[in-house]
Amino acid sequence: MLKEAAKNSVTYAEHVYDDYFGEGRVHRALYTDAEIFKHEMLRLFGSTWIYVAHESEIPDAGDFVTRRMGLRSVIVTRDLDGDLHVLFNRCSHRGATLCREESGNAKVFTCPYHAWSFGHDGGCRGRPLPKGFGASTDDFPYDLSKADHVESYRGFIFAAIDTKLSLKEHLGGAAEKLDEWLDRNPGSDLVVQNGSMPFEMRTNWKCVYDNAADGYHVPFSHESLLRMLSARYGNVDIAYYEGDFDALPLLVKDLGNGHTMLDQRPLMHADSAWERQHVLPGRESIWSKLNEDLGEEEALKLLNGSTGSGMNLNIFPNLMIIGNQIQVLEPVSVNETIVRWYSTSLTNVPPEINAVRMRMQEDFPSFGEVDDTANFEACQIGLEEIPEAEWVHIGRHMDSRLGETDTDGFWKEPVSTDLHARAYWQAWRTIMESNEGGKA
Ligand code: FES
Ligand SMILES: [Fe+2]
Repeated sequence: MLKEAAKNSVTYAEHVYDDYFGEGRVHRALYTDAEIFKHEMLRLFGSTWIYVAHESEIPDAGDFVTRRMGLRSVIVTRDLDGDLHVLFNRCSHRGATLCREESGNAKVFTCPYHAWSFGHDGGCRGRPLPKGFGASTDDFPYDLSKADHVESYRGFIFAAIDTKLSLKEHLGGAAEKLDEWLDRNPGSDLVVQNGSMPFEMRTNWKCVYDNAADGYHVPFSHESLLRMLSARYGNVDIAYYEGDFDALPLLVKDLGNGHTMLDQRPLMHADSAWERQHVLPGRESIWSKLNEDLGEEEALKLLNGSTGSGMNLNIFPNLMIIGNQIQVLEPVSVNETIVRWYSTSLTNVPPEINAVRMRMQEDFPSFGEVDDTANFEACQIGLEEIPEAEWVHIGRHMDSRLGETDTDGFWKEPVSTDLHARAYWQAWRTIMESNEGGKA
């Protein structure tokens, strides 16, 4: 207990987390200490690229959405020239939250308090009764503060408050995998326009992120779902997690900078992902309509590209792409997190394809995410309740020598590995312990 108290006295100026890490293990305090959470929100979410929105959510000049970078509320805007900005949602006058809408189109943002107004680029456009402002405050920062770095990669908008890396450098290997995910349906663009389905969980955000490429839990946590699937439909989609599932062609990859992927494509897409897919409402009528209109070959090609992607692509620290969906992590406090699921659709495809995508996107969040949420919350309870039990295990496949470099150049390990956790914790330490950049 004394040791624990000493750890809490670590000063952030030193940025040392040595005591919190050991071989194949991380300390419980990383999930339970409110001071570490505070530091994460300042430094981690203040000095690396954070996913904020998809361009299709703000397609027109003047469009905006409000999002979060850690605990910071931000307004993601598209100005009249089409340029993107990420503004801190804090009036420059007395600090009130400026924009109180989740999305919309605005000529200017007018603060409800004293009606100061701001443009899409954050510039101060108006202050009522201007004669009251004089030379003494000419140098006051009247414009909104904002993220200095805003870049989009194939429609995915990221922002950084303080970083030396370009977005492309930060994404590294994850960009290539994002390309593979996006290029499944050539000639179509991805659209994110259905809002989000938020799951509010009583857990630290990293209990959720730990699970993002955790192939180990699937047959155990989701046992009832898998049992129901195989009893009704046979060996379809994720029902193949049985027996020694490490022997299956399923794998986890380290993409660098904390980004990882759980790749089920070698099995899910080995023949036809559509035929492997379990029954969805409207399956027969969708198939017969597409078959009739396009012919079997084209219909199958489209459906295989729109059924489960077979990829869980995780872009550290807050973006997880699972199936056809985008998941965004919003830390709220040391033990509260909102996970937002955004469904996606495609342009230039028959309506039946987007219907299939929507049925699939209703499926796992309803039947699987509830299992996961129960376990994320149980982890938080255990970590908080028992301070004497200090360590969390992330050591699977550290010693089994089953890892190797894949043909794409990325390190891969069998699907039950903890490679994902080890990879992102390394990125976490690099950022949290750095003396460069960051606003902490
Ligand atoms: S606080 Fe916004 S105008 Fe006064
Ligand atoms: Fe799960």
